[in-house]
Amino acid sequence: MPLVFEIHATRADAERVVAEEIAALVRAKPTAVLGLATGDTPTGVYRELVRLHRETGLDFARVRTFNLDEYCALAADDAHSFRSWMNAQLFGHVNLAPAHTHLPDGTVADAELERHCRAYEQATEDAGGIDLQLLGIGRNGHIGFNEPGADVYTRTRRVELHAWTRADAAHAFGGIERVPTAGITIGVATILAARRVRVLAFGARKAPLVARTLATEPDSAWPASFVRLHADARLVVDRAAAR
Ligand code: GLP
Repeated sequence: MPLVFEIHATRADAERVVAEEIAALVRAKPTAVLGLATGDTPTGVYRELVRLHRETGLDFARVRTFNLDEYCALAADDAHSFRSWMNAQLFGHVNLAPAHTHLPDGTVADAELERHCRAYEQATEDAGGIDLQLLGIGRNGHIGFNEPGADVYTRTRRVELHAWTRADAAHAFGGIERVPTAGITIGVATILAARRVRVLAFGARKAPLVARTLATEPDSAWPASFVRLHADARLVVDRAAAR
């Protein structure tokens, strides 16, 4: 099936629909494996999942999560790590067991890097594979930290961050010189191995990225285009991003 393009009137509508899909998955399969993303884009989906947990008892006790990526050279408890961000947005507000939440370890020593990346892939497989992968799109078409040039066969690995990726993070770090130069990301092939892929894009600044994702044949110059190869992928947008 080709990439499904799903347009909602508002961002809040889109977030509710995606959160409800995740909730339905978790209710049907309490041991569901979720692939999670950071960035501004998924924040409302997490907020909605927290609400469903509090108000309807949505139960994460047996859910496992695997994040897309993490910065290199930041300890997990660094305020700028994706681990800290996930704690603040989701993990700290639902009954996910800490041991069930996974992110790559950005502080792993060079000598251990390859083994760590292989073990991260293996852990997703041991958990039964990712049931649903959330994705945002970076300004240069990246997914996770799969920057332009990443091919369809890539797996979990260390990558150098693109100048735009670092520039977009500069505000959060208080200056581009403080933004790490590298990250660990799951690969395009890892993403495509998920059973469902849900790419979110909201607001006018994402409109050209959405257009390019829909118009580009799968090509490593625009890694988001690879989601078109997936059998159950949806690009979920609000009106502003669809324009
Ligand atoms: C970051 C993340 C991506 C994210 C992207 C877009 O670099 N590694 O996973 O999708 O930027 O961010 P935002 O959602 O803030 O636009």
